[in-house]
This record gives sequence, C-alpha cells and structure tokens, in this order.
Amino acid sequence: MTTDDFSFSTFSKNEFYDALNARLVDMTDLGSGQRIVDLACGTGGVTRLILERIKGARDSAIIAMDHSAIALKQAMEDLKDIRDNAVQFVQSQVEQVSESLKERADTIIFCNAIHYVPDKDALVGEISKALKPGGKFAFNTSFFDGGQPENSLQFYRKWMFKAARDLRKEYGLKPERSKKVESRKHLTPDDYKDLVERHGFTILKQKIETIDVPIGGWLDISTFEDFISGTMPGVPLEQASASLQRGIEQAFEELNLTYVQRNWLGVVAVRT
Ligand SMILES: C[S@@+](CC[C@H](N)C(=O)[O-])C[C@H]1O[C@@H](n2cnc3c(N)ncnc32)[C@H](O)[C@@H]1O
Repeated sequence: MTTDDFSFSTFSKNEFYDALNARLVDMTDLGSGQRIVDLACGTGGVTRLILERIKGARDSAIIAMDHSAIALKQAMEDLKDIRDNAVQFVQSQVEQVSESLKERADTIIFCNAIHYVPDKDALVGEISKALKPGGKFAFNTSFFDGGQPENSLQFYRKWMFKAARDLRKEYGLKPERSKKVESRKHLTPDDYKDLVERHGFTILKQKIETIDVPIGGWLDISTFEDFISGTMPGVPLEQASASLQRGIEQAFEELNLTYVQRNWLGVVAVRT
C-alpha cells in the first residue's frame, strides 16, 4: 500500500471503523435542529455519518473542527458529494473549542482523538463550557488501558520486532525512543468516567466493543502520519510506514492470522 500524503483518509474508509463510529453517533441520539460539533474531525468520516443522520433536518448545523489545515481541506473535498451540506469547517485546537465556537453546542462528538490531548482536565472543562446545559458529549478511543486484548499482545510484539528489524536492515534507521508521545499513556475506563464527572457530566452510556480488525486495517493505519510518528518516533514517514507494513505482513503470516482484535471504549455523557 502506498499513499502520498500520510493523511487519515485511507484508514477512515475501512468498513469496520466507519461502523464503530456510526454506533457511537447513534448512541448520542441526535435530535433535529441541533448545533453539533465534530471535534477533531480529521478528513470528515464522522462528519459524513452525522450529516447522513440529520439529513433534511432544518436548522441543524455541523461544525467540523480540527487543528490540521490539510485534514480540513481533505474533509471538504471528501464531503463535496453530499447535497445540503450544512458543515462549517473551523481550524482550531480542540483545547480552545469554547473560544472557537460562536455559539454553544447541543452535542459534541469527539472520535478517536481524546488520547492525543495531554491535559484532559483542561480539555473536558473547555468542552463543558462549549456545551449548552443538558448538552451531550460523546467520545470513543481504542487507545485506553484495556484497548489491547490479551490475545493480541503476541501480534504487537512480533509486529514491532519485525518492523524494527526491517527498518534497520533496509534503511539503517532506528526509532528515537525518548520521543514518547502522549497517545501512548493510557487512561482506564474508570479514569475516563472520573474525568468527565469531575467536570459536571453524568454518564448516560459507556461500552467497550471488541472489533476484529483485518489486515487491511493494520496496513492502512500504518499510512497515517500521527500513528507512524507515535510508533516510530523520529523516523522519516516513508521508511517507517514501509517497515511497519512489512512487519504486519510477516506477523500475520507467521501467526496465521486473519484478524487481530482491538477494544474500543465509547462514552456518551450529559452536561448537568
Ligand atoms: C485519528 S484522527 C480521528 C479523525 C475522526 N475524528 C475519526 O474518528 O475518524 C485524529 C484527528 O485529531 C486531530 N487532532 C489531534 N490533536 C488535536 C488537537 N489538539 N486539536 C485539534 N485537532 C487535533 C488530528 O489532526 C486528526 O485529524
């Protein structure tokens, strides 16, 4: 698999991924006439899911926010096919969501990005400020303490070993382990519960889903810049991506796998 921009677009089009995000969006029970924020919208996969659900609803507005201008540009491009497209794109750090919104929102959906944010208390405080009273905050992540089922650990060990060996052999490179990124420090589901409750939210729904991720999902996530630099810090993207992909192919073959399971945490909370 090759990609020229290392954007999230390729991975986000995986069917299993779209489906699990759709289940989170459905868990929030979007009403009509709402202001909905798709926080850290990336290349717009979740924005599309929201648009499909509010289709035809008058006075609904979607604000798709991300700090990456490249991701936002790609999102605009990817969503061009939807008519009556009521999306406003806003370039902002998620940590500044309340300042970046003109009016408070009814719902904030934050998919697959909470693990990137170092100061989660400041973030959830901001989200609370950005919501109307009674507004909903939904998020999901597979980068939490419990995201990797026991039966997947052998795969990760083999994958990382093979990828590091490939990188050394093919390119004479190795990752700089000291450049550890925030997404690798994981909170437990209870930590997340305490976090949102500290900021005046009540949990409406919380679930952990186990997803069978096929080889294509692993290959595609290895073309996404943030994942590559989190896994192989300091290594040029092209080489790191190629070695990660060859590592996956070798690990799947040696362990005779058709998929590797991953757990996703999903939470819907209401601002009381
Ligand atoms: C893994 S993608 C998720 C995209 C989309 N929400 C989804 O679930 O498919 C993570 C996104 O978070 C964005 N992001 C990460 N940290 C951010 C921050 N502090 N402020 C704004 N956006 C951020 C990245 O630019 C990227 O587009």
